[in-house]
Amino acid sequence: MLGSVYITRAIPEAGPAMLRDNGIAVEVNPHDRPLSPVELRPAVAGKHALLTMLNDRVDDALLEAAGPACRVVANYAVGFNNIDLAAATRRGICVTNTPGVLTETTADTTWALMLAVARRIPEAQALVRSGKWDGWAPLQFLGHDIHGATLAIIGAGRIGTAVALRSTGFRMKLLYVSEQSNPELDRIGGRRVEFDVALREADFVSLHVPLTPRTHHLIGRREIELMKPTAYIINTARGPVIDEKVLVEALRSRQIAGAALDVYENEPALSPGLAELENVVCIPHLGSSTEATRSRMAVMAASNILAVLNGHEPPNLVNREVVQQGG
Ligand code: DGY
Repeated sequence: MLGSVYITRAIPEAGPAMLRDNGIAVEVNPHDRPLSPVELRPAVAGKHALLTMLNDRVDDALLEAAGPACRVVANYAVGFNNIDLAAATRRGICVTNTPGVLTETTADTTWALMLAVARRIPEAQALVRSGKWDGWAPLQFLGHDIHGATLAIIGAGRIGTAVALRSTGFRMKLLYVSEQSNPELDRIGGRRVEFDVALREADFVSLHVPLTPRTHHLIGRREIELMKPTAYIINTARGPVIDEKVLVEALRSRQIAGAALDVYENEPALSPGLAELENVVCIPHLGSSTEATRSRMAVMAASNILAVLNGHEPPNLVNREVVQQGG
């Protein structure tokens, strides 16, 4: 055996199969739920690799429980804010993610949310399903147009760019906020602007920043006050980027028109009142959830593990310092 891996939640079979075919002993959480830290610790003990989910907290205590054999934590997500990178690096453990393969799928999800909230699709569907729809009416479910509106992309990385590129089909005016200019977006007429300008001018604000101490509560009371009362906010990034309590108040008082959310501040819990609001579309963190994409993520995570266990640098290493220190 080349080594052993613990997979903290069942993933598409392409990943585990690839590991087994390459001589890795694979153990998978047998339950259809995340394991608590108390359950995870004995499960990971002595493993050479961990394949973790974005809702596993990979902290120093878990890495300690895994023990000195552990050489790689392959996160099944592009985001890795659930992992204590410093602790992993200190222990010489490589941390990897799954960038790129989920970009287009997550961009599609963002557009599904944007369309759903602006055209009130969930509310309208609920009426039809209830059997109470009494026919076409001129004032029924009036929404807001997406075509011709102004879209602000906050964070013009891979996913933000993919979302922005789709806006040309809707002939939208495009603004983006980014530390650097983005030639792909400039080419389609995108304008790089200051954060506050984007918030003031946009009809749709779509968040695409990673969760870091700098982006925690990036959208709070001050930022919502800058937005138009007809504007919508879309979040397929990470929940804590928005101060959810403030958002609930703003939506309740119609300070902004609506929100469409894939992610939440304290997943899977929602802030009190959020789920009851009509001007919110809420889906359960499924940005990358298509069969093809989740399989590609499984293969990518497995490839990262195989690289490390074969003594190579993994293709999607996020803590580069681990290599520099000879980990
Ligand atoms: C990620 O990979 O970070 C996404 O949130 C998964 O849907």
